[in-house]
Amino acid sequence: MDFDAVLARRKMVRNFSDTPVPPNILEKVLVAALKAPSAGFTQGVDLLVLVHPDQLARYWEATTTPEWNAATRRAGMMRAPVIVLPLCNPAAYADRYGEPDKTGSGLDRIESWPVPYWWVDAAFATMNILLAAVDNGLAAGFLGMFRGEDEVLTSFGVPSGYRALGAVLLGQPAEPDPASASLGRGRRPPDEVIHRGSW
Ligand SMILES: Cc1cc2nc3c(=O)[nH]c(=O)nc-3n(C[C@H](O)[C@H](O)[C@H](O)COP(=O)(O)O)c2cc1C
Repeated sequence: MDFDAVLARRKMVRNFSDTPVPPNILEKVLVAALKAPSAGFTQGVDLLVLVHPDQLARYWEATTTPEWNAATRRAGMMRAPVIVLPLCNPAAYADRYGEPDKTGSGLDRIESWPVPYWWVDAAFATMNILLAAVDNGLAAGFLGMFRGEDEVLTSFGVPSGYRALGAVLLGQPAEPDPASASLGRGRRPPDEVIHRGSW
């Protein structure tokens, strides 16, 4: 698909059908994450991919409450047949920036980082997934993980120290997919966002 078309079609989908994602398509979307840039080429981002019903149920059980599940639109999100959790490893970045070619960066301790690049890398990888999903005919939505992160990571055997950026839901879209209330804010126009030469 033409890149402009991918950008134009990308949106957060919150209602999925239960149509499975073909493994070869899922693979293409996942591998797109590996093409993302990475600070110091640390590549300290991993993907936890959940596709089996019991895995999906464990994710939702750990991260939601009965009130959340009962709210409108939640059932459509919970039908997504694939959940990808982009994980990052802060220690890998501190280690990488402690290597000789990064001497003097002062970033060999996690606490020293003014901008934690492990989150930056995880976000870049996630964006690749969102765009690759569109390019491969899938719908995608990103969810923050406000509860249950430790439980999810432990339950799926993720080594300690890793953090989860959130969750990417993947699948085929279902109707209706009402727009998020947030969209009522409107998209800021270029002239308001882009400051040319000075603010
Ligand atoms: C960091 C981040 C966290 C988000 N968390 C959620 C979320 O928890 N639930 C949700 O429905 N949408 C979430 N969104 C989606 C935004 O609401 C959405 O991107 C925004 O309204 C613009 O809509 P669009 O992406 O469809 O263009 C999140 C987006 C980002 C970038």
